[in-house]
Amino acid sequence: MDRIRIVGGAPLVGTIPISGAKNAALPLMIASLLTDQTLILDNVPRLADVTQLKRILSNHGVDQSVDGKRAGQNGMAGETLRLTAGDIVDTVAPYELVSKMRASFWVVGPLVARMGEARVSLPGGCAIGTRPVDFFIAALKDLGADIDIDGGDVVARAKNGLRGNRVVFPKVTVGATHVAMMAASLAKGETVLENAAREPEIVDLATCLIRMGARIEGAGTSTIHIQGVERLTGARHPVMPDRIETGTYAMAVAMTGGDVLLENAIPDTLQTAIDVLTQVGAEITPTNQGIRVRRNGHGLNPVDVTTEPFPGFPTDLQAQLMALVSRADGRSHIRETIFENRFMHVQELARLGADIRLDGQMATVTGVGRLTGAQVMATDLRASVSLVIAGLAAEGETIVNRVYHLDRGFERIEDKLGGCGATIERLSS
Ligand code: UD1
Repeated sequence: MDRIRIVGGAPLVGTIPISGAKNAALPLMIASLLTDQTLILDNVPRLADVTQLKRILSNHGVDQSVDGKRAGQNGMAGETLRLTAGDIVDTVAPYELVSKMRASFWVVGPLVARMGEARVSLPGGCAIGTRPVDFFIAALKDLGADIDIDGGDVVARAKNGLRGNRVVFPKVTVGATHVAMMAASLAKGETVLENAAREPEIVDLATCLIRMGARIEGAGTSTIHIQGVERLTGARHPVMPDRIETGTYAMAVAMTGGDVLLENAIPDTLQTAIDVLTQVGAEITPTNQGIRVRRNGHGLNPVDVTTEPFPGFPTDLQAQLMALVSRADGRSHIRETIFENRFMHVQELARLGADIRLDGQMATVTGVGRLTGAQVMATDLRASVSLVIAGLAAEGETIVNRVYHLDRGFERIEDKLGGCGATIERLSS
């Protein structure tokens, strides 16, 4: 199993190209199931989760091709992926495929909308809480699907197609909003999604669906109106830049000091995180090419932060923020409200010398003068990257074990950080 070796201490200076967003690419790829024509996605990140979803879509009968390198393109450019679901040959998404990644469960929406049936295994993914699928089931039932749970699979049927309806989510859910939006695009009549997720990735999917002929209004607000259409067509759409990757590297720079341009980053998609980083002591400037992050010499300020659905502070940056403020001059409080078990990085950060006390969903982080390198183990995607950025600021050598979690969500992290002066390498085994 690969490991990452880091020798901390160097400031980061240079340019980091931000990749296409994993959390946008996955639903966009799944949207290809809604049409028999070709969906072309540009700026698709090269990630293990994308590869896994390609396998799943392939099993349903989706033809896929990747464009070759183009003149003037550097090695960091995303892929152009062509997806054609001419015939869906199989409406079953089996356990072996779905258990590896929670988002693959989302195929249930397009499959039942287009084919009138789907059998999808209950999902797996990062071990960050129980992550049930009750909101998905309720939404699909509202749209007229019959749902059974059979042998660990969700079986959805709508022989005469889905019908538009009012869907009220009991809690903000990104995944179920994606699925309901896709399914309702092919339902008969109007659907209104209330308490919908407002994440930028929802807007990105809605923009793509509209390019495919869907009639959607209000994406990015908590009420989304969808007028169902009979069929959707092919389209071409670029995956939005990854706001979580952006925030992660911004925190790395805040932690090590230095001056880095996060190329292609879109400030509006992470304003709350930018505000928090500014409070901590980083200097953040939007530029024509992205976001410039600087920190010179000064200490880090402690913060009080609560994770919330967009536009609040994202849970996907909580672990990284905790690594950052572990070096602050004072005591920070970080409350996690989205996932009940997303503190697995705490004991690993402690191995590097961080002082973190957990009380239910609240972490109290007392800044320490220094972190020291150690062997640590990644336990989920965002936890693993928090260990990497802590390692960049720690004295001596840090080895991050089990980096396959990192490869699920961060493209070429060692090249991107290494290019800015970090001592970081992958040890393949
Ligand atoms: C997505 C993101 C993930 C991010 C999360 C919250 C992708 C691929 N993943 O995950 O990176 O951390 O949003 O921003 O985009 N819930 C239920 N029942 C359900 C569905 C969700 O109780 O049927 C709960 C979850 O356990 C959680 C909360 O609702 O407590 C929000 O989850 P949700 O927004 O659905 O997360 P994902 O879409 O899985």
